[in-house]
Amino acid sequence: MKAIVQHTYGGTDVLEFTEAPVARIKPDEVLVQVRAAAVDAGVWHLMTGTPYLLRLGFGLTRPRKPIRGMDAAGTVAAVGANVTTFEPGDDVFGTCDGAFAEYAPTHHTKLIRKPQNLTFEQAAAIPISAFTALAALRDKGEIKARQRVLVIGAGGGVGSYAVQLAKVFGADVTGLCSTSKVEFVRGLGADEVLDYTKDDFTRDEFDLILDIAGNRPINHVRTALSARGTLVIVGGERGKVIGGTSGLLKATLLNPFVKHTLRGLISLGNKEDLAVLGELAGAGKITPAVDRTYPLSEVPEAITYVQAGRARGKVVITV
Ligand SMILES: NC(=O)c1ccc[n+]([C@@H]2O[C@H](COP(=O)([O-])OP(=O)(O)OC[C@H]3O[C@@H](n4cnc5c(N)ncnc54)[C@H](OP(=O)(O)O)[C@@H]3O)[C@@H](O)[C@H]2O)c1
Repeated sequence: MKAIVQHTYGGTDVLEFTEAPVARIKPDEVLVQVRAAAVDAGVWHLMTGTPYLLRLGFGLTRPRKPIRGMDAAGTVAAVGANVTTFEPGDDVFGTCDGAFAEYAPTHHTKLIRKPQNLTFEQAAAIPISAFTALAALRDKGEIKARQRVLVIGAGGGVGSYAVQLAKVFGADVTGLCSTSKVEFVRGLGADEVLDYTKDDFTRDEFDLILDIAGNRPINHVRTALSARGTLVIVGGERGKVIGGTSGLLKATLLNPFVKHTLRGLISLGNKEDLAVLGELAGAGKITPAVDRTYPLSEVPEAITYVQAGRARGKVVITV
């Protein structure tokens, strides 16, 4: 099969569009014929092997698994002996091992059936970014209806879901983004959109702030929180050793000493959350925002586009 393969950490030049063997599935696994896969910040982290902390889990000197990509939508090609929930021919989406390929294996609990109203491209754009937005709002942010919520980084992959999900929870949502994404964020349903090149978000007061961009000092962001407000640190690219983890650590360490609630998020996602998201998307309550699609051979170009921060919502690979 054709796949995007890497044998060493580095820039997009380490990615090869080449032939690779189709994985042999284990008894609890499903083999998905991938129709679409999505790019997220994690793809870039695994490609470069940064922050170095992640190499403890993914390979110290080279990636243990050579095919990149996790978010996927496609058709079940084969099921393992213990799998009773799917059969060949089912259209599914979820996370796979090496989604930038014609076929990808995954544990059966990482997939659900694709809602019929979604294209494969839309379904592939859901899992990781929407898992993150859901966990940040619901689990860490404990969002409630009518709260004032600020989404910093509203125009990106995670932000595009955070704005829509916060509206589903009944919040009053403000999105913060650059000038070129103001109309896009308004289109996601934000009640108000602030342009960080000219508006000062700290003039307002919010009950819950998700910091997805993660490039402002925590104490600066806190000035926009109400007296008992909550700040959830979701993203941020700070240095090559521990990366965004430093923001999560700072929030956790500072939390006992301040009146605000400060939390860091490490989103893992699970089948229950995938089902919640599939139901919302199936009912049209959230709509995956697909900015662009690229063919499998152009994964390096897709990663470069996302990494430059230019994507409005999600970028998808068609296979
Ligand atoms: N904690 C977790 O479990 C978890 C899970 C997934 C992702 N993440 C992290 O979350 C972050 C975002 O991921 P993503 O997939 O959404 O990336 P993305 O699609 O690149 O979006 C990031 C957004 O931040 C915006 N941004 C950049 N500088 C900004 C600033 N100063 N103020 C406001 N917005 C700014 C960018 O657009 P504009 O500047 O043009 O508005 C862009 O839309 C990454 O650091 C990623 O590693 C964390």
